[in-house]
Amino acid sequence: MARATCTSLALLIFFLSLDVRVDAATAILAQGQSLAGDATLTSSNGAFSLSFFTPHGGDGSRLYLGVQYAKAVEQTVPWVANRDAPVSAAASSHSATLTESGDLQVLEGESVVWRTNTYSSAGNATLTLQDNGNLVLTGGAQAVQLWQSFDYPTDTFVPGMRITLDRLNGAVARQTLFTSWRNPDDPAPGNFTLGQDPLGSAQLYIWRSGQDGSRNTTYWRSGQWANNNFVGIPWRSLNLYGFQLAGDPSKSSGAMTYTFNTFNSSLYRFVLQPNGTETCYMLLDATGAWEVVWSQPIIPCHGYNACGQNAECSSGDHGQAVCTCLKGFEPTTSGGEGCVRSSQLTCSERNVSMSGGDRFAELGGVKLPDFATWESTVSNAESCRQWCLANCTCVAYSYSSGTGCLTWNQELVDIYHFPTTGEGYDLYIKVPASVLDSDSDSKRRRWTRVIVSVVIAVAFVLAACGFLLWKCRRRIREKLGVGAGVEKKTGASLMLRPGREAKKEFSGPKQQAEHEEDAEKSELPLFSLETLAAATGGFSESTKLGQGGFGLVYKGRLPGGEEVAVKRLSKSSGQGCEEFKNEVILFSKLQHRNLVRILGCCIQGTEKMLVYEYMPNKSLDAFLFDPERRGLLDWKTRLHIIEGIARGLLYLHRDSRLRVVHRDLKASNILLDRDMNPKISDFGMARIFGGDQNQENTNRVVGTIGYMSPEYAMEGMFSVRSDMYSFGILILEIITGQKNSSFHHMEGSLNIVGYAWQMWNADKGEQLMDPSIRASSSASASREALRCVHMALLCVQDHAGDRPDIPYVVLALGSDSSLLPMPRPPTFTLQCTSSDRDTFIRERGDESYSACDLTVTMLQGR
Ligand SMILES: *[C@@H]1O[C@H](CO)[C@@H](O)[C@H](O)[C@H]1NC(C)=O
Ligand SMILES: *[C@@H]1O[C@H](CO)[C@@H](O)[C@H](O)[C@H]1NC(C)=O
Ligand SMILES: *[C@@H]1O[C@H](CO)[C@@H](O)[C@H](O)[C@H]1NC(C)=O
Ligand SMILES: *[C@@H]1O[C@H](CO)[C@@H](O)[C@H](O)[C@H]1NC(C)=O
Ligand SMILES: *[C@@H]1O[C@H](CO)[C@@H](O)[C@H](O)[C@H]1NC(C)=O
Ligand SMILES: *[C@@H]1O[C@H](CO)[C@@H](O)[C@H](O)[C@H]1NC(C)=O
Ligand SMILES: *[C@@H]1O[C@H](CO)[C@@H](O)[C@H](O)[C@H]1NC(C)=O
Repeated sequence: MARATCTSLALLIFFLSLDVRVDAATAILAQGQSLAGDATLTSSNGAFSLSFFTPHGGDGSRLYLGVQYAKAVEQTVPWVANRDAPVSAAASSHSATLTESGDLQVLEGESVVWRTNTYSSAGNATLTLQDNGNLVLTGGAQAVQLWQSFDYPTDTFVPGMRITLDRLNGAVARQTLFTSWRNPDDPAPGNFTLGQDPLGSAQLYIWRSGQDGSRNTTYWRSGQWANNNFVGIPWRSLNLYGFQLAGDPSKSSGAMTYTFNTFNSSLYRFVLQPNGTETCYMLLDATGAWEVVWSQPIIPCHGYNACGQNAECSSGDHGQAVCTCLKGFEPTTSGGEGCVRSSQLTCSERNVSMSGGDRFAELGGVKLPDFATWESTVSNAESCRQWCLANCTCVAYSYSSGTGCLTWNQELVDIYHFPTTGEGYDLYIKVPASVLDSDSDSKRRRWTRVIVSVVIAVAFVLAACGFLLWKCRRRIREKLGVGAGVEKKTGASLMLRPGREAKKEFSGPKQQAEHEEDAEKSELPLFSLETLAAATGGFSESTKLGQGGFGLVYKGRLPGGEEVAVKRLSKSSGQGCEEFKNEVILFSKLQHRNLVRILGCCIQGTEKMLVYEYMPNKSLDAFLFDPERRGLLDWKTRLHIIEGIARGLLYLHRDSRLRVVHRDLKASNILLDRDMNPKISDFGMARIFGGDQNQENTNRVVGTIGYMSPEYAMEGMFSVRSDMYSFGILILEIITGQKNSSFHHMEGSLNIVGYAWQMWNADKGEQLMDPSIRASSSASASREALRCVHMALLCVQDHAGDRPDIPYVVLALGSDSSLLPMPRPPTFTLQCTSSDRDTFIRERGDESYSACDLTVTMLQGR
């Protein structure tokens, strides 16, 4: 009897020990264990946790098992297990159990509400939450992966996940789909779904359901894949090169997979919101708040095919959709949406050479239409054009190095015209030659009439003017003065929107007749090569001001007497003339008192030049690193310079409509005017230089060693936060008067960052101050300097997410009382063996890069 009791007790203990409840935080869940109550499973880096939760904002009655960001301030749930089968919070017994057979189940009492349906014969199954937020179930003797949450996403895409489309002879075999929550407090599947185009066009789509019964409608389209971004998402709005596509879109079988990788992956997430908006967030380490990195723009034109077929959509002044028929098309008379051909193509299938009657009308800067065919064998623009001309079913083509040759052979749908030049791609639409001719014909006829009458009038007026001019030429000369070297012929001035006359308004259902204001056209003076050569004494050595990464800078004096700086760009610019002009116009519109003003440009043959206002005090480095002149920069001036640069950056990063990342911020790019006001120069050079356009297989890193953030130097990843890194270095240089790249100081410290950190950490921060001004500085100056060092150390932290953004810096520099967070010790140091090459441009696979080594050092914390 006693023996029997003993046995049953042993059995009981045995069974009890099998059903181990995990009550506190744990790293893995082993077979037979379960998670209940507040217990969490945590990833080894502490970034993610798995537990039961009630959606924030809900009534608290429903419980879900989900993965959460452990360090985010607000509840953030990238993955939910039982999204459409919550357990009741009232029922006391609920758990997530890894069963003896290796199945992960969510249980409410005895009933299984959700399961992975996995089976592990060898026992030994374990559930781990990986550092990237992937919940992985392994089992068997080899610990093979049985299941992972990344294969069953909910509404969130995180780095490490894959967006896959697997096809077999054109049919979809497997597809990764993301479905929005029903609303912010209900994880149940909502109305929006994101995935790859099932037709294999390598585009991402968002579909909307629940409108007309259960029918899906396309809600949004990313645009074609172009090397490392999407045609419909201007790269500068995402500012991240992380997406990659594996697979061949030209095949009807096989997998196509998008992945996304960044320097620190646990910080980014893309989420499909309950209202259908896709948003990319970055977690700010310091505060645990989410910052919006990119969001699908919410304008009517982004609705799929907002204008109907063969029409382009552009945003009006109030964001409304303005529809315009493509060239050669007119509004449908049947009352339907969109446009139809005004006259048929002359192309005849029987005699291709008769198609000399068809030509192409160019439409620049658009999100290319849907349903393109990729001609994988065609590898240049001219062959692509010929291909389309020779094939009667082809109605349009587009060629770029990113997309290759794309052709269309059906109605053109979902065309969006980007508001900013330089964005979007060029589309060539096949039209009968008569359409283009009649345009120029009628123009010519009209012009002939106008010209004849004008010539007579002008001749008369000229004669009169000539007489007057001659009479008072001296006074006029004085008045023209400064502008004398500037050719303001309308022929030479540049228009912001190319091909505007080519557009026709049409009256369709969504028409918002609106004439774009001609006043909006932007003009930038074009200088002739002769003018600039004369101004700079034939680009003589004596007028040379300096040499930058992008070319030589000369001092010039225009015929009117105005002093200017002329930057002669080196010839290796990757950009064509049009893009160059557009970029320059764009940047000439950025005006701020802490940015150098662009006065004009010159494009002649292979020469490209930029004309800037002249800064008598040259650049910051000419003071800072000069033993004689550094003393002229007292602390007050230095602080004034730091604050000025910060305000200039604030404008570039946040307040200008372009959101420019400078990418080459350094002392020699900070110019000083007569009153020692700092002005940032060379902003946008990376863009003007084409260094960041999607060029064939090149990924240029443009920058200066010593100022480059680790993620930029190593992976070419740039963002506003790589500028913050350079700004941090710049602050340290301004305080210490030491050049980072030629920094030799105390033993053991490799560079200015390490040295500054050591000193600051040892409470000797004020000793960092330039000896030439330290003695004469007041106590309040030392306090300010210390504060700047602190700010700089925050800016040069290794991980982009740790660095503050510029609005924060401006705020913190301007106020005295705010408490700054502790910076993390720096660990990365970029060291170069060849010190003479200051600025460099790296192409992928370029050997010159190997002259630099990345060293990792550990410094002791406080
Ligand atoms: C459990 O898995 C480990 C490897 O992870 C393996 O070495 C061990 O033999 C397995 N045990 C059983 C019982 O299969
Ligand atoms: C989803 O669609 C249904 C049916 O049209 C609608 O009632 C519901 O409000 C939609 N939900 C959301 C979140 O838009
Ligand atoms: C409807 O949505 C599903 C995803 O839920 C998608 O796979 C399918 O292609 C869509 N169908 C249409 C006609 O858009
Ligand atoms: C990424 O950031 C997290 C959170 O700040 C940090 O714990 C982790 O070490 C970083 N990972 C890498 C690879 O730098
Ligand atoms: C959708 O929701 C997000 C987040 O709440 C918001 O920022 C966005 O403006 C909304 N989009 C639309 C189309 O209303
Ligand atoms: C096609 O037209 C051209 C002239 O337009 C003519 O020379 C040629 O012979 C024609 N070819 C055929 C196959 O009809
Ligand atoms: C013309 O284009 C269609 C559609 O892409 C294609 O099926 C056909 O083979 C092409 N014809 C020629 C002659 O290339």
